[in-house]
Amino acid sequence: MKALLLAGGLGTRLRPLTENMPKPMALVGNRPWLEHLILHYKQQGIDSFVIAVKHYRQIIESYFGDGSKLGVSIDYAVEKDLLGTAGAIKNAEPLLGDRFIVVNADIIHHIDLKSAIRFHDDHDGMVTICLTKVEDPSSYGVVEMGEADRIRSFVEKPKAGEAPSNWVNAGIYIMDRAVLGYIPSGRAVSIEKETFPLLIRNGSGVYGHRMNGYWMDMGTTERYRQLHWDVLDRRFPLPIDGKELDDKGIWLGDNAKIGQGVLLVPPVMIGNNVTIGDRSIIGPYSVVGNGCRIGGGVRMANTILWDRCKIRSGAQLNKCIFGSGTHAGPHILHEAVCNRALEVQRP
Ligand code: GDD
Ligand code: MG
Repeated sequence: MKALLLAGGLGTRLRPLTENMPKPMALVGNRPWLEHLILHYKQQGIDSFVIAVKHYRQIIESYFGDGSKLGVSIDYAVEKDLLGTAGAIKNAEPLLGDRFIVVNADIIHHIDLKSAIRFHDDHDGMVTICLTKVEDPSSYGVVEMGEADRIRSFVEKPKAGEAPSNWVNAGIYIMDRAVLGYIPSGRAVSIEKETFPLLIRNGSGVYGHRMNGYWMDMGTTERYRQLHWDVLDRRFPLPIDGKELDDKGIWLGDNAKIGQGVLLVPPVMIGNNVTIGDRSIIGPYSVVGNGCRIGGGVRMANTILWDRCKIRSGAQLNKCIFGSGTHAGPHILHEAVCNRALEVQRP
């Protein structure tokens, strides 16, 4: 079975990090999430992927190529204009088989695929929508369940207080090819607003498979930050590169140059080829990307740095997220989200 990964959206709620890259390429634990995702599905027997791309597609294509470096095969379905979540699936039609998996590529999750596929086989539906339970369903697609796992209605992002339940679309579907016949081509189509409601109205069999386990849509900076706390606290068992020192929640990559009197406060993750100047205090809840250079006397907490960031001596950072190559001067910064394009420098 192939997996189609939807990775073409603009990622507006994660700007400025996504201003010059696709959201699913955001680093999580020092690797693009999309890579973790492909490896997780590969572990469960999926070795053939289609990635539906548009926004900064060349970043995805040049990172993964034909997939051979990860031991999988990858094809790309390219949209000229954004076609929406259903339009992107329709656009990939020539690359898809009789039955396939569709995944919103910005969803952080681990899934038991065998049980999801078994669920799909055990029901006579055209689509299985994987569901997860959340406290506030208003920013998701919400379902009302009927008898025998059938979905009675699907409402995308209902107004607060109007959600029919707390079970939401997890952004993972098992689909029969027949669904493609219900998606018009040549225009933008939303699977959530058009196709699912249409299939439900037609009685075509849309079933909900309740998942348990960790699930997070990384689409806002708050959730993106929270996701890192969950990784560092091991609430989400993402494989972490680097060695953990004495089981203490300090992960250290290769070739780190750590100055005198540096304090690494767990949980903290330091990538490869990182330099940290004397007497800096790094952590808790911090990630330092590969190749970062941090000056002396820096105080950094609750902060995520992607690759090759440069932090000058004396800077104090709290709850910041810096995209690859960001340079920050010796400021006191709280909740700053920047990327290279928005360099923070001494005035
Ligand atoms: N190729 C392509 N083309 N991909 C797209 C397009 C498009 O036009 N539009 C969105 N995507 C991709 C995004 O890149 C993202 O990975 C995924 O589809 C979902 O888009 P989001 O913009 O993140 O949607 P959302 O989070 O507001 O809502 C969706 O996900 C929720 C789960 O997190 C919906 O599917 C909700 O129903 C669902 O609950
Ligand atoms: Mg999303």
